[in-house]
Amino acid sequence: MNARAPAPALARAPADVVGAVVRPEIRALSAYAVAKAEGLIKLDAMENPFPLPEALRAKIAEAVAAVPVNRYPDGGADALKAALRHSIGLTDAAGLILGNGSDELIAIITVALAKPGAVMLAPEPSFVMYRMNALYAGMRFVGVPLEAGFALDTGAMLAAIDEHRPALIFLAYPNNPTGNLFPAADIERILRAAPGLVVLDEAYYAFADASFLPRIAEFPNLLVLRTVSKIGMAGLRLGYAVAAPEWTDELNKVRQPYNLNALTQVVAPVLLAERGLLAEQAGILKSERGRLNAALAALPGVTVFPTQTNFVLARFPDAPRAFAGLRAAGILVKSLHGWHPLLEHCLRITVGTPAENDALLAALTQLH
Ligand SMILES: Cc1ncc(COP(=O)(O)O)c(C=O)c1O
Repeated sequence: MNARAPAPALARAPADVVGAVVRPEIRALSAYAVAKAEGLIKLDAMENPFPLPEALRAKIAEAVAAVPVNRYPDGGADALKAALRHSIGLTDAAGLILGNGSDELIAIITVALAKPGAVMLAPEPSFVMYRMNALYAGMRFVGVPLEAGFALDTGAMLAAIDEHRPALIFLAYPNNPTGNLFPAADIERILRAAPGLVVLDEAYYAFADASFLPRIAEFPNLLVLRTVSKIGMAGLRLGYAVAAPEWTDELNKVRQPYNLNALTQVVAPVLLAERGLLAEQAGILKSERGRLNAALAALPGVTVFPTQTNFVLARFPDAPRAFAGLRAAGILVKSLHGWHPLLEHCLRITVGTPAENDALLAALTQLH
C-alpha cells in the first residue's frame, strides 16, 4: 500500500457566516441523540426483540441477492404497496402513500400543509416529532396538555380547535410516550370538529385493542399513519399512510422520487407475508407487557400507567437513580424525566423477550 499524503487541514466554516444563514430556530436545536446500546439489553426504542428465524433469514438473503442495486428502485414501490394492501386488507379505493419510516410521512404531511400562518395541533406530551416537524416547516405548533393521568382533555382540544382552526392535528393512537389509548368517542368528536386534516398515528396498532383504519371511509378528513417498525422491521424504515386519495395525491407531490430503497421494497413483502409469526410475536409481547406491568406495580413507590403499546410507562421514586442502576446492570431504558412536567420521574420501558424482562425485573428488585 502507498503511504498516504498527510490530509490538508480542514477548512473551518466561519461562525459568523453559519450564524447569519442558518435559521435561528435550527441553531437553537440539538440534533436528535440516539443512545448507543452495544452490549446492553436494549429496552429503549420500542423495537421487536425477537431475531428472525433462520429459514426466513435465508429467504430474505435470496430476495436481497437478486436486487439490481445499480438501478434506482421502483419510484412507485408498486409491488410493496400491493403486498401492504393485501396484508392490511385495504381496497384500491383508499389512498396509500409509503414513507422512509412514518417519520418521513410526518415530515411530508407537515410540509404539504405548512401554509404561512397555518397551525399544527397535538396533545402534549406526545410523540416529539410532531412539534419538531412543525418547527422545521415553519408551522405554528399548539400543544394541548393532557390531564394528570394522561387522559385526553377533549374539552380543551375542542376549544383549541375552535380558537386556532388547525390545518393539521396529530393524535398518537395509542399515545407515545404515555402508552394509553384515547377513547374512540373523543377521537370522533375531534374528527367532526376539525377544519383540516386529522392524523391518527397508529404506530402501536399491533398491541392495541382499537384502530380507525377500518373506518377510513367514514371520515373524509382522517389519515391513518402506521409503521412496521414496532412489529419487527425497524431497520427497514417503512411507514405508510392511508386516507382519501384526494389527500394522498397531494402528499405524493412532496414525496422524494425514490424514498423507499430497493432493499426495503423486496424484504418488507417477505416479512409481511409472515402473518402467523408477526401475530405470535405480538401476542407474546402483550402477555409479557401484562407481566411487566404487574411486577413493576408491586415495587414499592412505583406507579404504572395503563398501556396498549409494546412499552410500559412507570413513575419511580427516583427515575435518574433507577435509570443509572439499570444502565449499570447492562439494561438500557428511556428516561423521560425532564421531558415534560407530567413525566417527572417516569421511565419508558420497551417490552423485551421473556428473558430480557426477567433481567429487568431482577435488576429493579435489587435496586429497590
Ligand atoms: C407515535 C409514533 N409515531 C411514529 C414513530 C416513528 O416510527 P418510524 O420508525 O416508522 O419512523 C414512532 C416511533 O417511536 C412513534 O412512537
